[in-house]
This record gives sequence, C-alpha cells and structure tokens, in this order.
Amino acid sequence: MADGDRDRVREATDIVDLISEVTKVRRSGRTFMAICPFHEEKTPSMSVDRARGLYHCFGCGEGGDVFTFIEKTQGVSFPEALEILAKRAGITLTRDPSASRRIGRRAEAVEALRQAIGIYNERLKKAADAGPARAYLRSRGYDVDVIDEWKIGFAGTDWDTLTKALKAAGVGDRALMDAGLSRRGRQGMYDVFRGRLMFPIHDLRGDPVGFGGRKVEGVDPKITNNPDAKYVNSADSIVYNKSRVLFGLDRARQAIASSGQAVIVEGYTDVIAMHLAGVKTAVATCGTALGDGHFDLLRRFTERVVLAFDSDAAGSRAALRTDDLESPFRLDLDLRVAVMPDGLDPADLVQEGRAAELAKAVENATPLLQHRIEAEVAKHDLSGPEGRARALHAAIAHLGRVKDEIARREYARHVARLIGVDLQTVEDAMGSRRGGRRQERQETVNRPFDRYEAELLRVALAQPGAGLELEPSDFTDTRLRSTFEAVGDDLKSGKSVDVSKIADEGVRTVAMSLVLDDRPLPSVEDLAALLRRRRLDTRIEELNEKLATLDPSGQAYSEVFRELIALQQERRSSTP
Ligand code: UTP
Ligand code: MN
Repeated sequence: MADGDRDRVREATDIVDLISEVTKVRRSGRTFMAICPFHEEKTPSMSVDRARGLYHCFGCGEGGDVFTFIEKTQGVSFPEALEILAKRAGITLTRDPSASRRIGRRAEAVEALRQAIGIYNERLKKAADAGPARAYLRSRGYDVDVIDEWKIGFAGTDWDTLTKALKAAGVGDRALMDAGLSRRGRQGMYDVFRGRLMFPIHDLRGDPVGFGGRKVEGVDPKITNNPDAKYVNSADSIVYNKSRVLFGLDRARQAIASSGQAVIVEGYTDVIAMHLAGVKTAVATCGTALGDGHFDLLRRFTERVVLAFDSDAAGSRAALRTDDLESPFRLDLDLRVAVMPDGLDPADLVQEGRAAELAKAVENATPLLQHRIEAEVAKHDLSGPEGRARALHAAIAHLGRVKDEIARREYARHVARLIGVDLQTVEDAMGSRRGGRRQERQETVNRPFDRYEAELLRVALAQPGAGLELEPSDFTDTRLRSTFEAVGDDLKSGKSVDVSKIADEGVRTVAMSLVLDDRPLPSVEDLAALLRRRRLDTRIEELNEKLATLDPSGQAYSEVFRELIALQQERRSSTP
C-alpha cells in the first residue's frame, strides 16, 4: 500500500507551490525557474517541471521530486517526508488504522462502480429497453467503438436490476450506498439510476468514481429517476468530489502535459466529440460550475486552459465573472476562449462533419481578456460618439487589469481599432484611470512639496480672507494636509494665523517655511480656477472607477455615465 500512498501524495502536491514556500519561483515560458535553495545564487538556475513534479538545478546538480525536496530541505527521511506532504495535502496515509478502514471502504465502492460500468455497458449494447438510448447515440454519431472506448452504458428501466446483480456478485450494501448506486427504501434496496444513458466518471488515476446519467427520449418517464432532469450526476461521496474531478482528465492528462494546453468543454458528449475531432486534451466538469478545484487539477499539467463553450455560455458562465477572473490564483493561468462556430456545441459540430472547424476554433482561441473586451465593446452602438465613449470606458475597465506595460499597450491598440478611435484617445482615457484616486505619496523627509498644493496653503496663510474655501482633501501631500488641518478653522473664520504658536513641531516647521517663503504670491483667481479643475479631475477619476464596477446595461451605469460626461464637459470648458 505504501506505493499507493506515495502516488496519492505525489498527485496531490503541486511542486511549484511546494518550492515556492521556501524560495522564489518565477515562470519562464512553460517551465518555472527557482532560486536554488541548495546553493548560493542570485539568478535562478533551478528548473521546476510542474507536470512531471520534478526539479533540477543546473547550477549545483541537485534534483528530484516532491519527496526528495522535503527530505533535503528539511533533513528528514522518506517516510517523514511522505508524512509531511500527506498532512499538507490533507491526505490520511494507509498506515493510520482508521484511514486504512476508510481506504478499504473506498476500494470497495470503487470496485462496485467498476462492476456497474460493465453491467450498464452490456445493457446498452444488448437490452431491448436500451433501444432509445442506442438511437440517441447513433443520432449523435457515436458508434459502438465510442460506446466501448468511453464505457458508456444504460441503466435499465426497472427498479433494482443493478442492485441485485451487484449483490449477487458479492458487493455489500454499504459499498452500494457508498458508491451512490443504490438506496434503501421501504421495500429494500433499489437502483439510484434508472432509464438513463450512463457516462462513467473517473478520477485522475483512472478509478471510477461516479456517473453522469442523461435522460433519453422515448424511455418511460415513470421509471426514470428525476424524469424532469436532463442529467442526474452522482452525488458527492467518499469516492467522489465533483468540485475536484474533471471528466476525461484521466485520458487527457498526457496530451495536456505534452501539448501544454487543456480544453474545457461543457459536458460529457462534448469531451467525446473533441476526442473524435482529434482534440485529445478536452475535459469537462460533471454538472457543476467550473471552480478553483478544477483549475487546481489542471494547473498541475499546464498553464494554458482554453474554455470552449458555445458563444452565449462563454459570456455568462459563472466561472468567467469578473471577480473570479481577478483571483490571483487564476491570473497565473493563461486562460483563453474558443468560440464555437454558429453557437453550436462540439458534439453538434462533429455530428455535422465539421470536426476540422472545431479543432480550428480551439487553435484560434483568444486570450480571455481580449475575448471579454470584444464582448464588452460589442454591446455598444459604435455609430455615435456617446456609444463609442461608453464602449471605450467599458473596455478600459478591463485594460486596467493588464499588469504588463507592453501587453497593455497592445490591448490599447486593439481597443482603438475595435472602437474606431485613435490610440492616443485610448491611452488618454487609460491614463486618467490608471492614476486612480491620487495616491498618497511616500513621505521622504526632503521631498519638495507639491508646488501647487504648497501655493494653495501659502496663499491661504497670507490672505486668510481671500475666499479659497479649501478642504483637507485638496491636499494629497500629508504634510501639507496636516498643516492645513491645524490652521483650517482659523482660516475659515478669516483670522490670520500666528504659525509660530503651532504646537506640533513638524506642522509648525511646514507652516513657517510657507510663511517665510517670500516669492511673489500667485493670483487667487488663477489658483481658484486650478483648484476647481483639480477637484473635477478627482471626481472624474472616482466616477471612472465606479463605472468600471457597474454593469453597462444597468440604470446606475447610465446615471454615473451621464454625470461623468457632464463633468468632462465642464472640465474642458474650464481649461484656460
Ligand atoms: P447539454 O444540454 O448540451 O447536454 O448540456 P448534452 O449531453 O450535450 O446533450 P445534447 O446536446 O442535448 O445532445 C451539456 C452538459 O451540461 C451538463 C452535462 O454535463 C452535459 O453534458 N448538464 C446539462 C447537466 O449536468 N445537467 C443538466 O440538466 C443539463
Ligand atoms: Mn450539448
């Protein structure tokens, strides 16, 4: 059993994460490079292979897998390393007696599932009541080779055939229930799946862990379980956790690692279609939303993940919500979108003999961000200036997420082309956003004051009655702001301030330096005009930020947008 433990722990451990815990790792193309923890160095010379779970240092020759890494960095033996990594991955080792009982239970459930696959598969091929299921598969273009390769089956149209057959083969009640195949009712045990086309689901190692059961037209709904549901998927169990299983990954993992790319499609039939079209890297979630658990599985084999959904789905998928996108976890993946021609799903395309187009769509997948920008822009009518402005704002909200300067410029160019404005317009609009609300700058002792802010305060101190109506928020420089706050009340009431009486030494020094500056004062009118413009700029930045968080089709967006346009007009007319 020790080998089983070792494999499970290895599977569950991401070597890049592991090494990142002790040293700096950065991505370099498809591989990762780390500062080698085994010898002194400044530039990384340790290469880390995430898919194979191996590391090797070209500097000092150290190398190995997740276990040797722990053995060497923590100075422990293999069994201890195994224990450390098992704990880290939340895996209980078989040596632990309660765990070994659990594993025994798991093995029994897996065995029950394995036998069920055979029984369902036979039934699909031979039984009279499976006729409609065979007809559906034929209509989908799936012949008996496909049925056998994917071990597709049919759960019969009676109450307890599977349960009885498995019991006769020596499978215990508990294993049947653990496997999610049978339930106990008033008249004894009965089959969970009835009258459905059965797609077996396997885990990474190829162990069967559950089923996706599709309703079949023409099968008696009285006997079909949940006849209203198109699909019924196995419930989570001691063998099955749908948020950490991808249909087809056991077959696709090799191709994914060697091609450096995985393709996620919507469902079982689409995975099969992709494979028929020669795209051997396709996987699907099993009737659940794509989540971090699934990405976690995939990133062990690749960084590039192509989402191949039909065009509507790609936009509306929960997995593509903006906040999810921003999860740093997903940001380190190269997410792309392949839009299926004519909004068809992969199974439809293969059925129509358009497999080549399917493969092409995957090949031409666009980066998720580009896809989102294009989808965003497409929502607007670009024939008028208002529509173009809206589209620009919507697109820029996405551009803000691109951290890399060069990539951002490329995207800006793309946006400019899409909307039909010049690059400068996009960059100007981006610039006013990127600054965001003016950041508080880091205080360094000798840094000169912001010239304009210093002048504001200098004029206010010299001419308290001049009517400059300043607010603390007019000062981004905290030294000037504290000074203003110390004297603001006096200034408001038109009193002149004796700065030498200010208690706080720092504030007093600032105020003194302003009062003692005897250069000519700027005109109050000029300064007031500048102040108005600065306040407008701040407000415009705030609104731009707010706009980026709103749904462009909503009421709130329109209101904020109108206010923004008005402010921008005012800003233009206030420019001297
Ligand atoms: P589809 O409705 O496209 O099903 O859902 P299908 O299997 O491709 O069948 P066709 O196209 O009607 O022949 C796509 C995937 O979404 C999941 C399944 O994984 C399915 O394969 N799904 C769909 C569910 O889990 N439950 C549902 O009720 C529907
Ligand atoms: Mn479909």
